[in-house]
Formats: sequence, structure tokens, C-alpha cells
Amino acid sequence: MQKNDAYPTVPGKLKNFRLTPTGISGQTANGIFYIQIYAENTFRIQVSLKKTFQANPYSVVARATENAFTFEETDAFLILKTTKIHLLIRKENFSLTFKNPSGEVISEDDPNYGIHWLGTEVSNYKKLQEWEKFIGLGEKTGGLNRFGQTYTHWNTDHFAYGTGDDPLYLSIPFYMGLHHGLSYGIFFDNTHKTTFNFGAGNNRYAYFSAEDGDLDYYFFHDQYISEIITAYTALTGRPELPQKWALGYQQCRYSYYPDKEVIRLGQTFRDKGIPADVIYLDIHHMEKYKVFTFDAINFPDPASMIRELKKMGFKIVVILDPGIKVDEAYTPYQEGKSKKLFLTYPDGEIYQGQVWPGWCAFPDFTLAQTRDWWAEKLKFYTDLGVDGFWTDMNEPATWGQTVPNLVQFDYEGAGGNHKKSRNVYGLQMARCTSEGQKKQNPGSRPFVLTRSGFAGVQRHAAVWTGDNVSSDEHMLAGIRLVNSLGLSGVPFAGYDIGGFVGHCSPDLFARWISIAAFCPLFRAHTMINSHASEPWSFGEEVEAIARNYIRLRYKLMPTIYTAFHQSSQTGLPVAKSLALVYPFDDKVYHGTFENQYLFCDALLIAPVESYKSITKIYLPAGNWYHFFSGKKLKGEQEIYWDCPLNYLPVFVAAGSILLMQSANQHAADKHDGRLKIHIYKGTGTHAQSLYEDDGISYDYQANGYISRTIQMDHDHGTLVIGEATGEFQSSFSKAKIYFHGFSEQHLIIDGQEQKLEPNNVAFLDEISEYDPLPMGDHAFQICKAVPAITLHLDQKEQVIQLRH
Ligand code: NOJ
Repeated sequence: MQKNDAYPTVPGKLKNFRLTPTGISGQTANGIFYIQIYAENTFRIQVSLKKTFQANPYSVVARATENAFTFEETDAFLILKTTKIHLLIRKENFSLTFKNPSGEVISEDDPNYGIHWLGTEVSNYKKLQEWEKFIGLGEKTGGLNRFGQTYTHWNTDHFAYGTGDDPLYLSIPFYMGLHHGLSYGIFFDNTHKTTFNFGAGNNRYAYFSAEDGDLDYYFFHDQYISEIITAYTALTGRPELPQKWALGYQQCRYSYYPDKEVIRLGQTFRDKGIPADVIYLDIHHMEKYKVFTFDAINFPDPASMIRELKKMGFKIVVILDPGIKVDEAYTPYQEGKSKKLFLTYPDGEIYQGQVWPGWCAFPDFTLAQTRDWWAEKLKFYTDLGVDGFWTDMNEPATWGQTVPNLVQFDYEGAGGNHKKSRNVYGLQMARCTSEGQKKQNPGSRPFVLTRSGFAGVQRHAAVWTGDNVSSDEHMLAGIRLVNSLGLSGVPFAGYDIGGFVGHCSPDLFARWISIAAFCPLFRAHTMINSHASEPWSFGEEVEAIARNYIRLRYKLMPTIYTAFHQSSQTGLPVAKSLALVYPFDDKVYHGTFENQYLFCDALLIAPVESYKSITKIYLPAGNWYHFFSGKKLKGEQEIYWDCPLNYLPVFVAAGSILLMQSANQHAADKHDGRLKIHIYKGTGTHAQSLYEDDGISYDYQANGYISRTIQMDHDHGTLVIGEATGEFQSSFSKAKIYFHGFSEQHLIIDGQEQKLEPNNVAFLDEISEYDPLPMGDHAFQICKAVPAITLHLDQKEQVIQLRH
């Protein structure tokens, strides 16, 4: 190959290799390599031009597995095989091909320039497969299918970002590729600025590059997308089960003050019977924006304000900005300076950048001592009764948007400049905020909401999508961002309902909050001087709609909490892009349908702009029921559907079991003790778990939980409410079962024949004069004439037989 600076340096010919317990390592003409097996569906590929590999201490929490592969050598290849992946390493030039055990190519390096360097920039060029689609990559704007696009990972404070702008606040260099019925995932574990090109401006490659560092990536292959996400989160970690209140409605504003205003806000929710769990305190709670302070004039007694709010059932989350005001009289600055906890220039001078308080120093969260100090500082808030933290501006953001690249970070002792370390700053801030909370409130689960982060952020925090704009376009873009985060290992995510920037219109707010009732993080927020975003700020009609959907959220809590519990075990999202379940159905990528998603598996949400009263929806394979009318619809068809502001198009997958309760005012408020089990007639057997615990502590990790499986065999008409496991006292003493789409009129419980009583079910509360039902072919009433039975719930298994 021609040797010339303009030409890339490639690994070159294989020189030697040796098998290790976890894989194979060796040298090529120009570099070193190490390939390790992490699981039968997960391979790690490291290639470097240096003598040793750089450590990547931040994202991966799993270890390689020993003896999990077989090895073969042929004249042309070294071959590593597991039950799921066959990796062929071409000896001639070290290009890699991943095949499945049937010999089909899943992914292959370009034969000439697969892996290469241009200066310090390292790239891996993969051959673009025919009709290949790409999904995931975290918080990235644009369409569901990322084909034809290029993206950069460089955490950026992007106020009022456009719906096609890139990069935003948080980086997850993990995506999935799909072609010929095959799917794979790639996680590029490199914290430098990276680029992902999915066939943008070329028809030869999909590639990824980093400005510096090694080629260090993980390749995943399995039959289903869900298995790939589960493998990715086995590698980078899964979210902890949140406290239950974190799944309720959250109200935020930049900013609520003074204290009386905050109390009035809480009281208004209760007076109006609008459920809510969380109130946020944005930057105006601080004295001159100095973190770890309360403003003495507006908040003279924060502890008693918080006590009062707690009596009403609210939790308080405060904002934390990383910038520490440069002020010799300010204790956090003094401490950080004397203990050498801040970012510095190479000559040791503290780096200063401007943020809200003026010139600030920035804690080096990549230094363990800084994280310990920060964790200790949180005591200031937890002693006052604060329940959670909102880590903002942690890209880190500075006015002018530039941190000089020579600024030094500890990077876990390895040392790193800004180029290497920026992308993990927010991740490490979220980490020590979560760890600090656990330390200060031992025994309770932490709550952190972060703006910035990196792969693995799900272990420490929920994520919101930053400074969005009040527009229909943004509302839909936010849904895609959250769905993409879900595909990228972050199930707990949300957007500012109503939009952060600009003045939300009443219709837009009504639509946005209806959709967000089915968003994992359910939080309204807006900026200073914009139209307020409390549910009652847009007139009575919107208030009624907002109340209705917020109440629906609380009614669905048994399903939602169970879904979060499952997600903490599998890493799978709670809001699932249809691409996750129907990856090879081209329709789901279509611009008209790409925002549709499944919430808690059973519900199909079809987001629609606020100005539309009729919309086109794609129902994928299977049968569906309209949630509000019970009308049955066939799948694999496009339908036109009425979508007046008060009825978001929501459908239930046939066969599903939805678990509901009566609406309460907040997560810890008592419901009526009746579990409502809605069963939608389908075929085959469907199971749904009901998981409960105290919603606060870690007792569930021992026996402090109760779980049971409700299973319906639709073909034989047998419903089994399984025996409960765990020792927690269920909050439900009775269950009411609603049969949707069933024609049977009789059932047998404990050998006794019972008659099903007709029943009316309203998922939304009736909203009297503000409830204009849509007219025309699709006119519907509240879901009605559902036969229902009530039974006493005890620990034992109960079997109910429907008579055919
Ligand atoms: C920027 C955040 O994105 C926004 O949500 C917050 O209200 C402001 N900072 C003020 O703290």
C-alpha cells in the first residue's frame, strides 16, 4: 500500500496472535489488537497503533467471559465462534466480518480501509448493506431511521435547538443496524468527539470515527432488537428501580419563588384535584445562583417550606449546576480550591468559565475525591428534606460555549484533556449526585434528572431533552428523542411538556400533556418570562383535559411501576419505538408513523399535532382495540382516526392485560384498594406481572415486594391469577376484572358458575360540557358494556374459567 501522509494508516497484515481465556490478542504490521467475548452475543474489538490500549473507565461495568468461544484458523482467516456470532479476521489486512452461525453476513469491514487512522483520528468503515436501516444513537434529532444522516457526539448546551440540530446535550455512541432480517448493535467506547455516518454523502460505507483514542467497540448480534438492548445494558448497566413518586406528574418552572408561591402551587394542585408528585426549584432558589445555598429573602426557611409541601404529599427536587462561583468568601469555592478539586489549565491555574453566578470554577468530576466531596455537599439539601436532584448545565455549559481544549481532567488518574473528557463530565456529575444521595439518605432510592451524560448514564439518572421549543414539531421531535434514548439503554427519559422556549398555545399544551401521560418521565417545565405551564394556565377546557390525562397516568400506575421494575432488570425501554418490536416492517419508519410507540407494551400511542382533528395511524401486525371505545381493529393497516384534543389516539394490543387502580392525588396517596384488570381478547397465552413494593426503599431487594403473574389463555378461556411471591403487603385487596372483546357471558370461579354483569368503564373522567365527542364514522362513547367480575385477592392462585 502506498505510504504517504494523505493515505490512512491501516493495521496491516497479521503478525502474530495468542489465545487468551477471554479471546485473542496479538500484533499486526502496524498495531496491536485484542478481541474478547463478553457474552455469546457480545464481542469487544480493540485495535491501536500504540503499544498498549487506553483504559475506558466510564461506561462498561461488565467483564469479559472466559472460555466462551471456539477458535479456528484457516489459510486466510482466524475465526472466533460463539453460538450467536462467527467473527472472521482476515489475516492479510485485519478486516473483520461478523456472520451468524448460518453463514449470513451481519456486518463487514470495508476490505481495504475497514480500520484506519488519519493522524490521531481513528475510524472503522463498515460496508453499507442493501436497504440497511439504523436506529438508536441516543439523544439524536432527525428521523427514526438514521440512514443517510451523519451525527456527532460532543455534549453541547443547545438552547432552543432545531429539530434537526446536532449535537445536543448527551452522547450515546450506540446504534443498531438492520438488514435482510438481521440485526446487530455497535457501541463505540471512546469518549472523544465521535462521528457516526450512516451512508451520508456516500454509498459505500456506514462508519464511525473518533478524534483520538483507540478503536474500542462492542459488537452485538441476536435475533431480536430487545436482546441486543438487553446485551448492551448488561454491558453498560441498567437503571435502578426509581421511587414510585418519580413516575408521577412533575411540575417545574424557571423558577418558582418565593416560598409562598411554591406552597401556593402545591396547594392549587390539591385544591383542583389534579394529581402531582414533584415540584422543582430552579436556579432562583439560590443566593446569587450559588449552588448549596438558599436565597435568604425568597426562602428564609426552606426546611419549613419543604415540610409544608411534604404534608401535601409533594417531593422537592432542586437544581444543581456544576459551576462554583469564584468567590474567596464562598465555602464550596474555598474547599474546592484548597483540596484541588477543580479543573485546571496544564500550569495548575484553576480554569474559569462564566455561567449564572458569573466567573466559576468547575469541579473535576472525573476525580474520585471531587465526587466524594460533592456527595458530601449534598447533605446541605438532604438535611432540609430535599428528595431529588436535577443536574443541569453539565456538558459543561459556559457562556460562549467553549472550554479550551488544553483544560486538564483527572480521568480516573489516567489524565485527559477537554477533548477526551468533556463527554463524560455530565455522566460523572450524575454519578456522584446519585451516590451522594444514597450516602445522605441511606436506604432510599435516589432521584437524579440529568441533562448531559454518556453511555451508561442510565445507571445514575433519568434524562430530559433540554431546552426544547413550544411547537408541534418539537413535541413530536421530543417523542423521537425519548424513543431513541429508550433504544439506547435509557428507559427513564422525558421532555419539557409545553416546551421550554416560547409561549405554548392552549391546544398545544393539551395535546402535549396528553401524550406525555404516556412518557416515562412526566414533567412540565418552561423558561422565565414564557407562558406558565401549570395544567390550569390555559383555561378550563385545557385544565379538564390535563386533569383527565394526569389522572389516567395515576390509574395506570400498577402497569407503569411494574414496567419500570422490569426495565430495571432487562434494560428495555418503557416507551418502545415500534422499530423495537416490528424492526422489519418498513411502515414503522415512514415519516407519518415513525413517532408511534408502545407504552408499557400494551398501549400503542399515536402522537398527533395539536391542530389536527383527524390523523393517519398505522396499526402494526396483530389486532388492536381502541382504548377509549373498545372498538376492535385489525392490524397491518393504515387507518384515519379522529383525534379531537381530548382524545389522543391510543390503542391496546389484543391479548394484553392492563392493570389499573383508582386515581389518587400522588403516588403515596391511598387508592381504593381495587385492582382493575382489563383483559383484551386475543389469541394464545398472555401474561402480565403485577409488581409492588414500598416505592421508596431497597427492601425489595430482600423480600419487601409482592409480585404475581396474571395469565390469560385466550384459546381455552382460562385466566390464572398466580400465587404471590414476596412478603410485602399488597395495596390491593380486591380485583375487578373487565373483559374487553369477549362474547362469553358466563364464567366459573371455584366450581361455581357466575354471571358477568354488564359494566361501564371510563378510562378518562367524563368532562361534561368540555367533552365534545368526535362525529362521523369513528364516533365513540366511553368504553362500555364490558362484562366484569370482582374477586377477593389473596396470596393464593386463583383460576377463572370462561365457558365457551
Ligand atoms: C437550562 C435548563 O435546560 C433549563 O431547564 C433550566 O430551567 C435553566 N437552565 C435554568 O436553570
